[in-house]
Amino acid sequence: MYRTHYCGELNIENVGQTVTLAGWVKSNRKFGGATFIDLRDRYGITQLVFDMETDASLCQQANELGREYVVQAVGKVTERSNKNTEIPTGEIEIVVITMTILNVSPTPPFTIEDNTDGGEELRMKYRYLDLRRNIMQKSLMLRHKLAEASREYLSRNGFIEIETPFLIKSTPEGARDFIVPSRIHQGEWYALPQSPQTFKQILMMSGYDKYFQIVKCFRDEDFRADRQPEFTQVDCEMSFVHQADIIAMFTGYAKHVFEKVINVDLGDIPTITYTEAMLHYGSDKPDLRFEMKLNYLNELVVDNSFPPFAEATSTNGSVISLAVSGGATYTRKQIDAYTDFVKQPNRALSGLIWAKWNEDDTVTSSVGKFFQNDEIYRWFEASNAGKGDLLLIAVAATRKVQKAMGDLRLEVAKDQNLRDKNVYKALWVIDFPMFSYDEGNESWTFEHHPFTSPKSEHIDLLQTEKGAVLANAYDFVINGWECCSGSIRIHDPIIQSAVFEALGMSKDEAQTKFGFLLGALTFGAPPHGGCAFGFDRLAALMMGTDSIRDVIAFPKNNSGRDLMLDAPAAVDFNVLKSVGLA
Ligand code: AMO
Repeated sequence: MYRTHYCGELNIENVGQTVTLAGWVKSNRKFGGATFIDLRDRYGITQLVFDMETDASLCQQANELGREYVVQAVGKVTERSNKNTEIPTGEIEIVVITMTILNVSPTPPFTIEDNTDGGEELRMKYRYLDLRRNIMQKSLMLRHKLAEASREYLSRNGFIEIETPFLIKSTPEGARDFIVPSRIHQGEWYALPQSPQTFKQILMMSGYDKYFQIVKCFRDEDFRADRQPEFTQVDCEMSFVHQADIIAMFTGYAKHVFEKVINVDLGDIPTITYTEAMLHYGSDKPDLRFEMKLNYLNELVVDNSFPPFAEATSTNGSVISLAVSGGATYTRKQIDAYTDFVKQPNRALSGLIWAKWNEDDTVTSSVGKFFQNDEIYRWFEASNAGKGDLLLIAVAATRKVQKAMGDLRLEVAKDQNLRDKNVYKALWVIDFPMFSYDEGNESWTFEHHPFTSPKSEHIDLLQTEKGAVLANAYDFVINGWECCSGSIRIHDPIIQSAVFEALGMSKDEAQTKFGFLLGALTFGAPPHGGCAFGFDRLAALMMGTDSIRDVIAFPKNNSGRDLMLDAPAAVDFNVLKSVGLA
């Protein structure tokens, strides 16, 4: 037997027992005539002691142990004179009787500690060492618990887990496909699924009325902290349901997993429409941990000749203010940083107007010479702000200024430490637009995916007024992260064809790409709908980290590389030849 106990389980009650432990050398210190080794395994750390007087040669051997050596030690559990209250095994130590070195290691390139000295790229290259760190072990354990709690809730509610294939034909979710050449059918390609969307719908048509799968999805898209090219979804689908049934079922799911995994009660979970979300928060995934809503000053400035306001009010744009509590003390430099923030190319505002209501009841403003103080006080009133506060005001086309001020809202909240990682605020956002206009391609595209049903009262608008069509689509948001997305699907082949047409797809193209689905829809498709939770995002939120890379065992870096494998990599000429690519 390699070990009788794990390194995290011995305590004062084991004193006097002879035990065998195995693990990695975390640290090695000499003190007086003794050597102390912290031995680590995935369960914890136990201190081993070697005494020069008792066994000089064993102590000498211990002195030579380097960090990350793998060791098996037999010894007696003894009460420590110098107790460590920080760790569960801190009251005892093992006085070693015999020791075997199971393997050696060079000095690792970074310290295997929570606060490691290794940068992210180095840790990803040596991911096998990084995963030894306590924090990473906690992440992966949490992932396991999340999967367990997910299966528990869904199984209990009658869902069955069904696997769907990875070598498929494109399932569009708005990203590019990863494609795989076929050796047997040269010149033809499989696509890796962006999600199992069409399969889960087919399963509904086959009568498996509650499906789920914890499944890998593949998307060739730009990287961000909350995106990976391959990631995991808790993918679900149900038949004979309305949107409200799905929202109720998956509110239950979210509450269950948060309770089970991190003992957090998500509390009341409000539902707001997409339009309300954009209006109040400038985002379709609002962070509700803090208030700071956007305020609209259009009516107060309607008669004003100040050129930016005049322009906005005459072009149906919006004048939006954000109240920064206590911001009257902000320096010019701080305000300039916010101005630069909204001017960045992805926000592209021309600037910010600011006004301070000072403690002595005076006001100062970047546009003070254009306005009476009374007018400026009224802006504060309309923004629910007062003495000591700062208003940041921007003017532009409504959507543009809403989005930019929504981003600024998050930036200000970050600076004011309002985004507390231990607080969780969830909500559903419903009634999304069905389509959006892609300026680059000068074409209409789907907002969710092309299988989402339009609101029945908007079906007539599919060809005539695409921008006004709302979808039976919904998102679940926690702390500003889109954690889940779903919709009620089209189950009528005529409407499905009309949506393909609205997306500019010819009948032939629709038949080539989705003939199987259109066919299945004609054979008695039940009304159905579902959603998919981003498993990595849930895990990251629960761990309180900003990056999903921290909760994935082997993630890709910012440019899509696996630094440990050094992938993607060139492929042997003969392999390329065998699939007809050389
Ligand atoms: P959607 O594309 O919105 O919907 O994806 C569902 C959820 O998956 C997560 N997610 C991601 N996580 C990490 N990296 C990515 N690149 C990534 N992309 C998405 C998000 C998102 O909310 N088939 C539909 C679901 C449905 O309609 O049932 C779908 O995939 O948390």
